[in-house]
Amino acid sequence: MDRLKGKRALITGGSSGIGLETARQFVAEGARVAITARAPNAFEQARQQLGDGAAYIVSDAANAAGQKKLASEIEDRFGKLDVLFVNAGIADLRPMEQWDESGFDNTFGINVRGPFFLIQALLPLFANPASIVLNASINADIGMPNASVYAASKAGLLSMARNLSAELISRGIRVNAVSPGPIATPLYSKLGLSAADLQATSEALQKQIPARRFGKPAEIANAVVFLASDESAFTVGGEIIIDGGLSL
Ligand SMILES: NC(=O)c1ccc[n+]([C@@H]2O[C@H](COP(=O)([O-])OP(=O)(O)OC[C@H]3O[C@@H](n4cnc5c(N)ncnc54)[C@H](OP(=O)(O)O)[C@@H]3O)[C@@H](O)[C@H]2O)c1
Repeated sequence: MDRLKGKRALITGGSSGIGLETARQFVAEGARVAITARAPNAFEQARQQLGDGAAYIVSDAANAAGQKKLASEIEDRFGKLDVLFVNAGIADLRPMEQWDESGFDNTFGINVRGPFFLIQALLPLFANPASIVLNASINADIGMPNASVYAASKAGLLSMARNLSAELISRGIRVNAVSPGPIATPLYSKLGLSAADLQATSEALQKQIPARRFGKPAEIANAVVFLASDESAFTVGGEIIIDGGLSL
């Protein structure tokens, strides 16, 4: 109940899916939470679940300069920050031939560049101790058709967890990552697939997962709560894989 009591937490991309469920668990564990999304009207569902105690901040993870503004809003609201869950991300899956520079830059801008500059902007605000959790993906660890750019962006986050940990642990800041396998969230409806193709993709994926099902957002949030809390004080630069065995 009180595993995050008194902690001040920022969750990027908290309006949906894994981010929203994590925000719900953080609040239930006693944290004060701020979440971001790109549009003011994206917070309706979150407001219903989290209430008026949470902060709802419009911020585009793709805008590296905008991360300073986000940090300043967090400073105004919380003063210091104990937990950052870098969760906002997109999955743009395409065959190699269909990639162009702007699509590549869009994925890296949201999934890697924005997070890096957000952490930089928040550095003066992190408490000691503080915990940063990066939402990577099992795609960083496996090979899958059409996932090259997405997987590379998530591999960048895993590398950041290790290297930023090495750099920041002396200030009491731990950086770890979670790598989810396929999790049932609205992300799949954003892939641009027809209902029939989505169904076929989902069935094909489930056959590849030893657990024979998609994961639930709560199964990722459980691990994020652990990494955010002081229970994981000796876990530094690590990766928790939660993928139903997909990467076995
Ligand atoms: N679902 C899976 O199978 C799976 C597996 C591995 C990893 N992941 C990772 O988990 C994270 C969350 O995904 P999800 O499955 O929960 O998907 P989701 O339901 O689509 O949620 C994505 C969240 O990120 C936000 N977001 C996207 N682009 C943003 C931007 N430029 N600026 C600010 N917020 C942005 C979205 O808000 P708005 O669109 O409203 O702005 C939303 O809150 C992603 O990083 C994804 O790569 C998911």
